[in-house]
Amino acid sequence: MMEHLTVVKHPLVQHKLTLMREQETPTAVFRQLLREISQLLAYEITRELPMEMKRIETPVAPMDAPVLAGRKMALVSILRAGNGLLDGILELIPSARVGFVGLYRDEETLEPVQYYFKAPENLGERLVIAVDPMLATGNSSAAAIDLLKDAGATDIRFLCLLAAPEGVERMKAAHPDVPIVTAAVDEKLNEKGYIVPGLGDAGDRMFGTK
Ligand code: URA
Repeated sequence: MMEHLTVVKHPLVQHKLTLMREQETPTAVFRQLLREISQLLAYEITRELPMEMKRIETPVAPMDAPVLAGRKMALVSILRAGNGLLDGILELIPSARVGFVGLYRDEETLEPVQYYFKAPENLGERLVIAVDPMLATGNSSAAAIDLLKDAGATDIRFLCLLAAPEGVERMKAAHPDVPIVTAAVDEKLNEKGYIVPGLGDAGDRMFGTK
């Protein structure tokens, strides 16, 4: 059973995160670092996957060796910044199916509104890893998890690069059954909803938009 919140303090993760935070870091480097960190975070979030033994022959002798117990997986990217985490994780878990959730914020109600949803079939049989680099207010993340649960998912984990305490609390209240893995929990959110000190707008930084 995973803790509700895991902060990955590994030196490689923390070093790469610092480089990503720096405002001078160019777009291409930011994207590459995100890809690398995504794999280190995925390593952590899959730590307790079930294993089974398989009889194999090495060139020297037969042995019973551990393999993944065939658990079906789905990665779900919360658009658009989630896509920056997707490719690196897919390299590690090439058999995972991929889904996408698109949400925008209604300017009047400030509530997240769905504009796109596409999920692999049999979500209920899969370990679902939802990915979004920034867990800020937690509103869109919690809404994305609602959609995944409505689509049948029962075993969901959330992987992000950076979180604000407000977002962690919001997710814990709305989805206490969804463990979160992140590289850091920062100090707070500012009045514009940015994580402080954070790294700015993750989507803009990875895609070179403003
Ligand atoms: N989304 C971002 O990309 N950055 C923040 O700081 C908060 C939300």
